[in-house]
Amino acid sequence: MFETTTIRTDDKATLYKELAQQASGILAGETNLVANAANFAALVFNALPDINWSGFYLFDGTELVVGPFQGKPACVRIALGRGVCGAAASTRETQLVVDVHQFEGHIACDAASQSEIVVPLVRADGTLLGVWDVDSPSVGRFDDEDRAGMEELCRVFMTSVA
Ligand code: SME
Repeated sequence: MFETTTIRTDDKATLYKELAQQASGILAGETNLVANAANFAALVFNALPDINWSGFYLFDGTELVVGPFQGKPACVRIALGRGVCGAAASTRETQLVVDVHQFEGHIACDAASQSEIVVPLVRADGTLLGVWDVDSPSVGRFDDEDRAGMEELCRVFMTSVA
């Protein structure tokens, strides 16, 4: 069993730093994509307050297909350029959505979701692995510290499956 101690801090930078350390510990020594993606999604879902979905959409060469996640069942396939996930995949830039109802084309998988952050996952050779998506039931849940923290977590994840 992995030791995942509860991180008690109001400081987001500290929270993400400790979470990145836990992620690298859990993913170390394993390179299997599904195994590491599943444990990564579970780690983040249980460590971060005020979120209702965390998981992966993986690029199959044509579109994004839902991968390992925590939360309610989600839409399975998302075309590039569609929704927040498709925007992250096609622009290859993190999408930070303060209020999903203000995002043209947002795909509502769980009606509870009010804000969202999606980080593109790009391999060292420049090809797209997929995206990492986290949803919150609160408007404005994610800010620039979350963006930096999530991007660092994704670097840890991508290193593990490289
Ligand atoms: N809201 C996303 C779809 C995926 S769910 O949030 C799990 C989007 O607009 O791409």
